[in-house]
Amino acid sequence: MQTPTHPGPKIVVRPPGPRARKVIAEDRTYLSTSLSRTAKLVGLRAHGAYVEDVDGNTFLDFGSGISVTVMGHTHPRIVEAIQRQAAELIHVNSCDYLSLPQVEYARRITGLTPGSFPKRVFFSNSGSEAVEAAIKAAVYHTRRQGLIAFTGAFHGRTMGALGLTTNAPVSRRHYAGSMMGNVAFAPFAYPYRNPFKEDAARGALRFLEEHVLDRVLPAEDCAAIILEPIQGAGGYIVPPVEFVQGIERICRQRDILLIADEVQTGFAKTGHMFACEAFGVEPDIVCLSKSIAAGLPMGATVARAELLEWDPNTHENTLGGNPVVLAAALAALDVFQQEGLTERARRIGSRLMSGLSALQGRFQTIGDVRGLGAMIGVEFVLDRESREPARELRDRFVQACFESGLLVLGAGPSAVRLSPPLILSDEEVDVGLALMEQALVRVAGE
Ligand SMILES: Cc1ncc(COP(=O)(O)O)c(C=O)c1O
Repeated sequence: MQTPTHPGPKIVVRPPGPRARKVIAEDRTYLSTSLSRTAKLVGLRAHGAYVEDVDGNTFLDFGSGISVTVMGHTHPRIVEAIQRQAAELIHVNSCDYLSLPQVEYARRITGLTPGSFPKRVFFSNSGSEAVEAAIKAAVYHTRRQGLIAFTGAFHGRTMGALGLTTNAPVSRRHYAGSMMGNVAFAPFAYPYRNPFKEDAARGALRFLEEHVLDRVLPAEDCAAIILEPIQGAGGYIVPPVEFVQGIERICRQRDILLIADEVQTGFAKTGHMFACEAFGVEPDIVCLSKSIAAGLPMGATVARAELLEWDPNTHENTLGGNPVVLAAALAALDVFQQEGLTERARRIGSRLMSGLSALQGRFQTIGDVRGLGAMIGVEFVLDRESREPARELRDRFVQACFESGLLVLGAGPSAVRLSPPLILSDEEVDVGLALMEQALVRVAGE
C-alpha cells in the first residue's frame, strides 16, 4: 500500500497565485476555450492523493482527475513500468505489427471483465473511442442500425459517442443535425427525481419496453442498448439494481446487445473491479478508459469474442495499444489486484457516506447523497421540498473547496462527484470531510 506523501493540503498563497495567473493568461490565448477549466489549478507535480500547483499550494485530490488516478498519482510501480518500457519500445503501429504488452493485457483483461465467455479486445486512446468501437462492432455484427441510450448519459464527445450523449444542453448544441439519426432515448432510473407513479426502476423499464421498443425502435432494428451502470457526468446517479438487471433481461429476451460503458465506473472505485459486478449483470461489450492506465491515454473495448471478429481494416488506429501505455495499464492491474483497492474503496466510501449524511442532516441545501463504494454523488438543491437544482451554489461550493485545498468536481446540473484516490487514510477522509463542511458553511450558512 502506498503511504501518503503529505500530512494534508496546504494553501500558501490564495489560488490562483502569481505563477498560476501567468499560465492562465497564456492558456486563454492559445488553448481551445471549449475546455471547462472548473478550477484555476495549474498542476506542477502530483504524488499519492496530493497535487501541487506552480505556486507551492498542495491540494488533496478527491476527484482523481475525473476518476482516473484512483491508485494515487505517480504510483511508484506504474512510474517504474513506464520508464522501463519507454527505454525499450515506444511505438509499433498496432494496425500492422504486434507487441508483447498488447497480447498480455488482452489476455488479462478478458479474464477480469464480467462474463466467463470467450472475449476479444480492441485498444484505442480514450473513452470516446472505446464507445466508438463498441457502436461499430454492435452495428457491424448485428447489421442493425438502431441504438438505445439513456437520458442524462455521457458517452463522449466524438460524433458517434456524442450521438448517445444527453448529459447537458451544451453537449449537443449546434450539432443536433449532425448526430447519428438512429438513436432512441429512454429514461434512466433516477430514484431522487422519479417522474413515474411507480418506483423509478419499474417506471423506466416499462417506458423502455412499452414506448421505446414497442413503438419507436423495434428490437429487430436495434443493435444495442448502451448503459452507464452509474451515470457519471450526469451526476453520479446510482440506479436500483432491478433497473440494471431489467435492462439485461430485456436485451436477452429481445436479442439486443448490451453495452456497458464502464469508462468512469471501471477499476475498483465502486468496491468492485467493474460496477456491473455490483448489479450482477454480464454485458456483451464493456467500454473502458480513465483509470485503465493510471492517467496515460488509453481506451479498451472488451467484447464477446464473436463481436470483434470482423474483416481486417474494418476498424483500427495508429496509436491504440501503445506499448508504454500498456505497460502502465499492466502495472495498474497489478496495483488494483495486489493492493486491495476494491476493499479500500468500500471502506473509504462508507466513511465518506456517513460523514456526508451527517452534513446532509445539517445543511438543507444537500438534497441527496448517493454512491457505490467510493464513487459518491452529493446533489445540491434550493430547498428539499421543491428539489430545485442549486447549480450556482454547487459551483460556489466547488470553488470554496478549491480555495481551501480540496479538489472536487461537479457533475450533472447540481451535483458534486467524489471519486477519491483509493489510498486515502481515514484521517485524510476526515480532512476532506472537514474541508467540505467549512465550504458548506461559507456558501450556504448553517
Ligand atoms: C461514462 C463515460 N463514457 C465515455 C467518456 C468519454 O471519455 P473520454 O473523455 O476519455 O473521451 C467519459 C468521460 O468522462 C465517461 O465518463
